[in-house]
Amino acid sequence: MSLSGITLVTGGAGFIGSHIASTLAASGARVRVIDDLSTGHRENLKEIKGDVDFIHASVANGSVISHALEDVELVFHEAAIPSVPRSVENPLETHVACVDATFSLLLAARDRKVRRIVYAASSSAYGDQVALPKNEKMLPAPLSPYAVAKLVGEYYCQVFTRVYGLESVSLRYFNVFGPRQDPGSQYSGVISRFIDALIQGQQPVIYGDGEQSRDFTYIDNVVDANLRAAQTQNGVGQVINVGNGQQTTLNELLKEIKSLTGRSEVEVDYQPTRSGDVRHSLADIQRARELLQTLYKRSASHAFVGDNGGDQFVRRYVEGGVVNIDTIRSELPIADMRDLPGIAFLNGDLVSRWN
Ligand SMILES: NC(=O)c1ccc[n+]([C@@H]2O[C@H](COP(=O)([O-])OP(=O)(O)OC[C@H]3O[C@@H](n4cnc5c(N)ncnc54)[C@H](O)[C@@H]3O)[C@@H](O)[C@H]2O)c1
Repeated sequence: MSLSGITLVTGGAGFIGSHIASTLAASGARVRVIDDLSTGHRENLKEIKGDVDFIHASVANGSVISHALEDVELVFHEAAIPSVPRSVENPLETHVACVDATFSLLLAARDRKVRRIVYAASSSAYGDQVALPKNEKMLPAPLSPYAVAKLVGEYYCQVFTRVYGLESVSLRYFNVFGPRQDPGSQYSGVISRFIDALIQGQQPVIYGDGEQSRDFTYIDNVVDANLRAAQTQNGVGQVINVGNGQQTTLNELLKEIKSLTGRSEVEVDYQPTRSGDVRHSLADIQRARELLQTLYKRSASHAFVGDNGGDQFVRRYVEGGVVNIDTIRSELPIADMRDLPGIAFLNGDLVSRWN
């Protein structure tokens, strides 16, 4: 990617934002991060702290975001309070962090003549529509304040593209997982919560019967889709699913993580279904293939490996360590990562899906 200006990552101290910021910094881009640390951590940027400018503030603050956008060419807008249950408990907080912040950013970006915003949208926009997989032509049916707030952001992005010529691409992420996902929060992604509970000897909690399904998407593929969205011509003004294209129930997922952590005997604590949660989620990833030419980089396998040393990798995952394919290969005498039992359910035929 050739960039002459600065790249701003909002929410860059969070899980996804910090991976985008690290990848950009490693490629030599000039990176600025704005984050109010409401759910993120400065720790997430420790590897690149000398290479990024950090602004500790809310994107919703109009004068601060205008200042943060000085000389910025491209924005990856990841800032949000990314939780359905938290939005049900405190819809105002979600509204400010998602809707107000996105609106402030777009206004300031228009005035600062930013070239493009890549917006972190959410698969929650689809709600509980029966048809699967979910494709971008379906009418949105949000079920929670979070889903509404993320959808409003998409609409604003599209309108700012149409009316003011500010380029935007909205990426609807499907259940992202990977290193640095905060396992300490009850609102975090289910994979990090399951692993955390199991290695701490606690009972993992499933809300509902566990037969609800998700399309778990590895962080590297999300970063890759963002970088591609920064360059696409045909994708400008569009909404694009970013998912793995594979459905896994929470019971299947937990069974696999139990086996990886050597805690197969642990019983699940089934709790009543939470309001706002959708039953099934699965991405149609055809548009991503067409507009982003997404290429799978085989990195979904980083987080989960089979019996030999699986526990160690799960621990590293929780600690936020970066586990790369060469490390796994050198520590496990297995030639083809796809053959590893522990990743089969997540990885499957991902190579062909993303190619
Ligand atoms: N993780 C997923 O599975 C998933 C799925 C769909 C969409 N998303 C979207 O992806 C984005 C990143 O999610 P994540 O999982 O990395 O979450 P995260 O909580 O790790 O990161 C969000 C970051 O935004 C910051 N933030 C929140 N409000 C802010 C504000 N007003 N101003 C500045 N910073 C603010 C937080 O401190 C945090 O660092 C979010 O927009 C989320 O809605 C995530």
